[in-house]
Amino acid sequence: MSQDNAKTVYLKDYQPPAFSVESVELTFSLFEEQCQVRSNLHIKRQHPGQLVLNGGQHAEVLRVEVNGELLHESGYRVSGEDWVIEAVPDEATLTVLTQLQPQNNTTLEGLYKSSSMYCTQCEAEGFRQITLYPDRPDVMSVFTTRIEADKALYPVLLSNGNLVEQGELENGRHFAVWHDPFRKPSYLFALVAGDLQHIEDSFTTMSGRAVTLRLYTEARNISKTEFAMGALQRSMKWDEEAYGREYDLDLFNIVAVDDFNMGAMENKSLNIFNSSCVLARADTTTDAGFQRIEAIVAHEYFHNWSGNRVTCRDWFQLSLKEGFTVFRDSQFSSDMGSAAVKRIEDVTLLRTAQFAEDAGPTSHPVRPDNYMEISNFYTLTIYEKGAEVVRMIHTLLGAELFRQGSDLYFERFDGQAVTCDDFVRCMEEVSGRDLTQFMRWYTQAGTPRLQVTDEYDAATGTYYLDVRQSCPATPGQEQKLPFHIPLAVGLLYPDGTEHHLQGDSTLVLDVTEAEQRFMFKGITQRPIPSLLRGFSAPVKLDYPYSREELSFLMSHDTDGFNRWEAGQRLAMAILQEQIGAIQAGEELEVDPALIAAFERVLDDTDLDYAVAAKVLTLPSEAYLAENAQVIDVEAIHQARRRVRKVLADALCARFRERYHATEPDGVYAFHGSSIGQRALNNLCLGYLLATEREEALELVRQQYAEADNMTDSMGALAAVVHSPFTTVADELLEQFYGRWSEDALVVNQWLSLQASVAGEGTLAKVQSLLQHAAFDWRNPNKVRSVLGAYGQSSVGFHRADGAGYEFLADQVIHLDPMNPQLASRMVTPLTRWRRYPAARQAQMRAALERIAAQPLSKDVYEIVSKSLA
Ligand code: ARG
Ligand code: ZN
Repeated sequence: MSQDNAKTVYLKDYQPPAFSVESVELTFSLFEEQCQVRSNLHIKRQHPGQLVLNGGQHAEVLRVEVNGELLHESGYRVSGEDWVIEAVPDEATLTVLTQLQPQNNTTLEGLYKSSSMYCTQCEAEGFRQITLYPDRPDVMSVFTTRIEADKALYPVLLSNGNLVEQGELENGRHFAVWHDPFRKPSYLFALVAGDLQHIEDSFTTMSGRAVTLRLYTEARNISKTEFAMGALQRSMKWDEEAYGREYDLDLFNIVAVDDFNMGAMENKSLNIFNSSCVLARADTTTDAGFQRIEAIVAHEYFHNWSGNRVTCRDWFQLSLKEGFTVFRDSQFSSDMGSAAVKRIEDVTLLRTAQFAEDAGPTSHPVRPDNYMEISNFYTLTIYEKGAEVVRMIHTLLGAELFRQGSDLYFERFDGQAVTCDDFVRCMEEVSGRDLTQFMRWYTQAGTPRLQVTDEYDAATGTYYLDVRQSCPATPGQEQKLPFHIPLAVGLLYPDGTEHHLQGDSTLVLDVTEAEQRFMFKGITQRPIPSLLRGFSAPVKLDYPYSREELSFLMSHDTDGFNRWEAGQRLAMAILQEQIGAIQAGEELEVDPALIAAFERVLDDTDLDYAVAAKVLTLPSEAYLAENAQVIDVEAIHQARRRVRKVLADALCARFRERYHATEPDGVYAFHGSSIGQRALNNLCLGYLLATEREEALELVRQQYAEADNMTDSMGALAAVVHSPFTTVADELLEQFYGRWSEDALVVNQWLSLQASVAGEGTLAKVQSLLQHAAFDWRNPNKVRSVLGAYGQSSVGFHRADGAGYEFLADQVIHLDPMNPQLASRMVTPLTRWRRYPAARQAQMRAALERIAAQPLSKDVYEIVSKSLA
C-alpha cells in the first residue's frame, strides 16, 4: 500500500504565496463531449519564491501563455500535478487553457454534471480540477466569469457576484458574464448551468438595501423550496441582530443539486446545496429534516462573514470558519426553537460521534498540524468540537464581550485570510483575558476527563470540589498539558433550593491545573453539585453520584440540560449493569428507580413535550459503545432492548395515555409546540410497540394510514421496522415505496431505515438494496443511505461471522475509483477496530488490510493507513 501521491503536508511548513492574483477572468465553453476553460490571471509578486500553479487530473492543460507568449518547456517544471513556473516577471498576465469532461467526473469535485446540470464544488482543492491556479485560500482575487452554453439545454447560467452581461451566440448558444467585486479564494468560486426553475423573494437589510433572493431547482422540485427561502430570510435577519452582520451584494442565490458529497457549500452569493439539505415539504420531510435544513441554510449564509469576508489562511485553520459558523448556526437554531432541545441534540452528537472519533486512529486537534488529504479533515472534530471551543470562549467572556470580540475580528480582518490565533487574539483584546493556555484546545487532540470529588465541612460551612483533569494519548501526542476548562457549577440543597454562588445560581470555575481544589463558603448543608451545566466544556465528567442524587437532580436541577443529563446518567448506570449481567449470563432486575423516574416525567404534563421526549429516550447503543472499555455489541444491544421493554411493560398505560393525549392542532405545521407533540407521540408509540402487543400494532397502522406529514408516517414506519413484527414492517415498507418511488429524497429515508436495522437479516437486505432500481452508486445520498446507515446498524453490521466487515470492504473498494471522498467516509466504522473484542478486531483488521492491498485514492489511503498504524 505505498502511495507516492500521498504526501503529508505540515502546518509548520507554511509559506506565504510568492504571487498574488490581482484579478482573474474565466471563460467556460460548455459542450456535451468536453468543456474548455480559458483563464487570464493578473499576477503580481509579493514575496521571493516561485510561482506554483496547482493542477488536477480532471483538467487537461492545453496551453499556458505568459504575457501572450507561449510558455517554453524550459520555463516550468511539473511536480506531481503542480506547475512550477521558473521565470516569470514580477507582474504578468498568465493565460491557461484547459479541457475538461465534466460528464465523466464522478468525484463530484471541480466541474461536474449532476442529472442534467453543470455545477462545481471547489472547497477545499477542487478549483485546480478546473484550471491551473494557486489554489490556496490565502490567494484572494476578483473573479469575472463568462459562461457559454447551449441555450435550450442550459437556459440558466450562474456564477458568483452580479450578472453584468448576457446575450445570444450562434448555433443556439448563449452566454452570461458574472462579476464578483469581493476578493475571494478559489474555493469559493462556483458555476451552475442548467434547465432550472426558481422562486424569488427579497430581504431588506438593516441599512435599507433590497436584496433579491432566488432558490433554483429542477422543475420537479419547485414545490419544495418555500421553507428554505423562509429559513434564509430568518438567517439574514438574525445575523444582523445577533452579530451586526449585513449582507453585501444585491443578489443571493441558492441552487439545489442532487449529487453532492457534503451538505452544502457557501460559494460567494451562489450557495450550492445537496438537495437533501434544502428541499422540504410537510408530506416528504420529517421535523428533524426541517430543522436540519433550517440550520444548514443558516450555516451557509453565516459563512458570508465567517468564512468568506474573513477566510482561512490555510486549511489547517479550517475550524476558524467551520467551528465558528457551527457555533453561530447553533445559536440561531436555539433562538428559533427550543434552546434546551438544541443543546441536548448537539451534545448527543458530540458525545457519541465526535468523542468516538477523538478516541480513534484519526483523532486530530481542532487545528491539525498535518494531513495527507484535506477532504478527510471535514470532521466532527473540526466542526462540532470546533464549535464547542468557540462556545467555551463565549462562556468565559460572557455574551457582551464575545460580541465585541467578534465585531473586532470582522472589522480587523475583513478581506483577509487569517488564523485561529487571530480570532482568539481579538477575544483576548476585548476582554483582557489571557487565553494562552486556552489555545491548547486548538493544538491538543483527545477528550479530556474530569474527575470530581467533594468534601463538606459542616463545622465551618465550607464545601470543597476537587477537580482532577487528564487527557488520553492520541496518535502523535503522548503527553497532554492541562486544558483551560470552564466548569459551570451549581449547588443544590436537599430541599431543592439552590445556593447562590456570587449572586448567581451558576458559577463558571476556571479549571486550569491537573489537580485543583475549589472552596465554597457559607454552605449550610451538604449540597448536591450540579456539574458541567449546559455542558460547559467538551469533556467527560465523573462524579460519584448515587442513584438517589440523580433522581433528585432530574426533578430539581434548575439547569435544563443537567436535568436531562441526570436522567441519562441514571439510565447509563442501569444499562451498564445490565450489560454486565448479560455478559455474566445472569438475569438482573432493572432498577425500579429508572421506572419511577420515567413515570414522573410521563406524569409531568407541564414539561415541554420535546424535552420530555428527550428525557424518555435511553442513551443510544452508540453512546453505550463509546463509553465501554471493550465494545460488546450484542450485550449492548440486548441490554438496551431489555430495559426498553421493561420500561414499556411497566409504564404501558402511561405511554398509552400520553400518546395522542394532545393531538397536534389541525393540519401539519412546523412550529415548536407541534414538533414537540409529534416527538412525544412517536416516542410513546415506539415504547408501546416495544411491549410487542398486538394492540400497539393497530396504533401503528392507524397512525401510518392517517398521517398527513412525514414525521408521523416515518414515526410509525420506523417503529414497526425496528420491531419484531416483520410481516407488518414488510407490508408497510412496500406500501411506502409504492407511494414515494418517484421522490428520491423520500426513497433515501426508506433505504436508510432498512439498512439501519439491528438484525441478522440486515446484511442480506442491504445487498438486495444495492441491486434495487432506487439505488445509484453515482449518487452520494443513496450510498450514504445504504452503506452509511448499515455501518451504524449495531449487530446488523457487527455480525459474529464478520460478513458485515467483508461486505463493507468490498463496497469501499468498488466505490473508491468513482468517488474517493465518499469512499473514505464509508470506511469509518472499520477504523474503530481497536475498541472491539479480539475476534472482531481480527476480522475488522483483515477487512482493512484487504482494502489496503488495493491501489487507493489518497483519501482512502490516508484513513486506512492511519487506522492500521
Ligand atoms: N464549507 C462547506 C460547509 O461547511 C463544506 C464543504 C466541504 N466540501 C468538501 N467536499 N470537502 O458548509
Ligand atoms: Zn461550513
